Amino acid sequence: MAIQKVGVIGCGLMGHGIAQVAAQAGFTVVVRETQQAFLDKGMARIQKSVAKLVEKQKTTQADADAALARLSGTLELGDLADCDLVVEAIVEDLDVKKTLYAELGKLCKPSTILASNTSSFPIAEMGNASGRPERMVGLHFFNPVQLMKLVEVVRTEKTSDEVFAEARAFGEAVGKVSIAAKDTPGFVVNRLLVPYMAEAMRMVERGDATCEDVDTGMTLGTGYPMGPFTLTDYVGLDTTLFILEGWHERYPNDPLFVPPQILRDKVKAGKLGRKTGEGFYKWEGDKRA
Ligand SMILES: NC(=O)c1ccc[n+]([C@@H]2O[C@H](COP(=O)([O-])OP(=O)(O)OC[C@H]3O[C@@H](n4cnc5c(N)ncnc54)[C@H](O)[C@@H]3O)[C@@H](O)[C@H]2O)c1
Repeated sequence: MAIQKVGVIGCGLMGHGIAQVAAQAGFTVVVRETQQAFLDKGMARIQKSVAKLVEKQKTTQADADAALARLSGTLELGDLADCDLVVEAIVEDLDVKKTLYAELGKLCKPSTILASNTSSFPIAEMGNASGRPERMVGLHFFNPVQLMKLVEVVRTEKTSDEVFAEARAFGEAVGKVSIAAKDTPGFVVNRLLVPYMAEAMRMVERGDATCEDVDTGMTLGTGYPMGPFTLTDYVGLDTTLFILEGWHERYPNDPLFVPPQILRDKVKAGKLGRKTGEGFYKWEGDKRA
């Protein structure tokens, strides 16, 4: 495959996982962060995760060492100029992302494929900002990247066939099953999941059922590992509201994207889910209180 050197921008929750799986798959990886402290934290996360794989005998010490040797960190965007693929996993802010893509469009070599891990923004807008929309795709990984088997490969109307095929091959090369998606809100998975979470909230708002009964219904009735309220508490109520608000603003006539009032109220009250100790449920660490 044409991709050998991979740049990852952002070494947070998703970026560190993407960098890790790429290095383990044999790619040369350079990760860019904005501050040394963030880079150190991300790299430490990768080292810990790789060490755990050795401990569990999922990989050998030699392979782990080789993967880590293929990985380097930088604060300079210019160090990604000769990458064959750049995967962006920075903060979910479209203006910040567009500024970054404009810079990447200027500094990367002409053949570089640009990929965003965004969960909620149109890939086309970032492609246009880069000035090379035919080389832009979505590579939407799932958290935790090291464990979740799926990657959605998203093509816009302008993505070239070659770029799409290369991005898909990269997804498979890092051990994921890839699915093809068009550049629509939420792609495949979140398009179904987020409105489902919102409809569960509307059900409770109407007084049709309690959170507990909805969650029990969906776990025992469909075999889902967790119900929509537990899931929202894990994802974060603020993140869920942010996604819905963005889609609602863009597509005001779609009733599936209207943010439920109960969600707005909880976010306003600082009840953001497991991370704040309360969302739809009360939490003590990882356990329901
Ligand atoms: N968290 C999830 O479950 C999840 C799942 C799929 C996709 N995503 C998407 O992945 C992206 C990253 O999310 P996350 O949860 O990893 O966020 P995060 O906050 O954990 O990490 C983002 C990192 O990017 C860094 N950063 C910000 N601007 C930068 C820049 N210009 N250059 C380099 N680094 C920069 C920040 O310092 C931070 O470390 C978002 O677009 C999000 O929508 C998140």
